Amino acid sequence: MAREKYGTLPRQDLMAPAIAYAKDGFILDQGDAASFASNAAWLAKDPAAAAIFLKPDGKPYGAGERLVQPDLAASLATISEKGTDAFYKGAIADAIVKASGAKGGILAKADFEQYAVRELKPVSCTYRGYEIVSSPPPSSGGVIICEILNVLEGYPLSYLGAGSAETVHVMVEAMRHAYVDRNSALGDPDFVDNPVSKLLDKGYANDIRDKIDPFRAGVSQDLMPKGFGESKETTHYSIIDNDGNAVAVTYTLNGSFGAGVVADGTGILLNNEMDDFTQKPGVPNLYGLVQGEANAIQPRKTPLSSMSPTIVTKDGKPFMVIGSPGGSRIITITLEAIANVIDHGMNIQEAIDAPRIHHQWLPDTVYVEPFGLSPDTEKLLAGMGYHLDLADSTWGQAAGILVGGKSLAEIEKGGGARYNGAIDSRAKSGEALGY
Ligand code: DON
Repeated sequence: MAREKYGTLPRQDLMAPAIAYAKDGFILDQGDAASFASNAAWLAKDPAAAAIFLKPDGKPYGAGERLVQPDLAASLATISEKGTDAFYKGAIADAIVKASGAKGGILAKADFEQYAVRELKPVSCTYRGYEIVSSPPPSSGGVIICEILNVLEGYPLSYLGAGSAETVHVMVEAMRHAYVDRNSALGDPDFVDNPVSKLLDKGYANDIRDKIDPFRAGVSQDLMPKGFGESKETTHYSIIDNDGNAVAVTYTLNGSFGAGVVADGTGILLNNEMDDFTQKPGVPNLYGLVQGEANAIQPRKTPLSSMSPTIVTKDGKPFMVIGSPGGSRIITITLEAIANVIDHGMNIQEAIDAPRIHHQWLPDTVYVEPFGLSPDTEKLLAGMGYHLDLADSTWGQAAGILVGGKSLAEIEKGGGARYNGAIDSRAKSGEALGY
């Protein structure tokens, strides 16, 4: 639908490179190999998945080895030739329904036949003179990024400094308040009357700031869901073309390799997206999110996502394109990259690579990447009442573009490169390319 409405190339041309990568294979990078290694035991449980993603001896593919996916090439070639009905109404849908049924799943042919794309107006807000344009519900990403930015706009982040205890304090409190709203008030807009305008109101951000004690950590248990009066391994890529059209895309199977099940003969992995719903109020999902009724499972409803493909504009022109995988942390990954560029003057690569922090209301914990905070900052935050989880591994794989220079300073000076791409250096996988 995006191609038909906004694209310039025929479907066959756009799909040809993906078909070739599936048919002829591609050489795995260290980041790809690490992902196969950590999911090998899980993939071994499904013979169709193991036949593709593990070597004949059952071992995972290593860096430098070639991954070939002939069934996927055939599925993509059929879609390329016949169009979307070949996926939603043909043999591919039959194979996926069969694979789901074989494992006790409840996917039906009608789920595919009745699927229709919804084109939704993006969520937007302003932040220090920039406009943020991001994903609307059923993703929570855009709303929650904007809610957090609205709160942060009232603090002099640039003066407080990146990674200082005061900056981390106000960021975590903004995240805490916004995630309680995310986890209790938002859901599929066809089912839930999302209080978007209330959550994006600058006055509401002011009310949140009034509740933030400048010297003490908040307590999540004291911050229970409010009534708003409403009824009760992911991939991100950022692109700008020669004409300045910007696209931010986040695509997900939910967990790494989704359900770990391949529909035999198709090369297509089934997702485990049901986990993005509230399976039971109060019970954490894969990403530790504790959510409410607004995101309860219902037929034909879409689960609430955190995906945050985002375009930041300045004076109506693209300034930054950004997004990431990372489950519930996608929102804070994207937000921190934006603040690192706008508030802390980092270049696009530094903004993406800078260590991350994350808070999602519950558990009442500040997650900190390795070397994310200095020891004295950790002590200051602990003294304010924060529980810090000093993680031993990183999260996310952001991909971004800055227009007109590598950093705000270079853009303001003028004469910087037209497009400046950066891919997260956390995992060696993915690239920033220009054509
Ligand atoms: O839509 C969501 O929020 C999740 N399904 C995203 C999962 C994800 O990013 C996994 N990758 N790390």
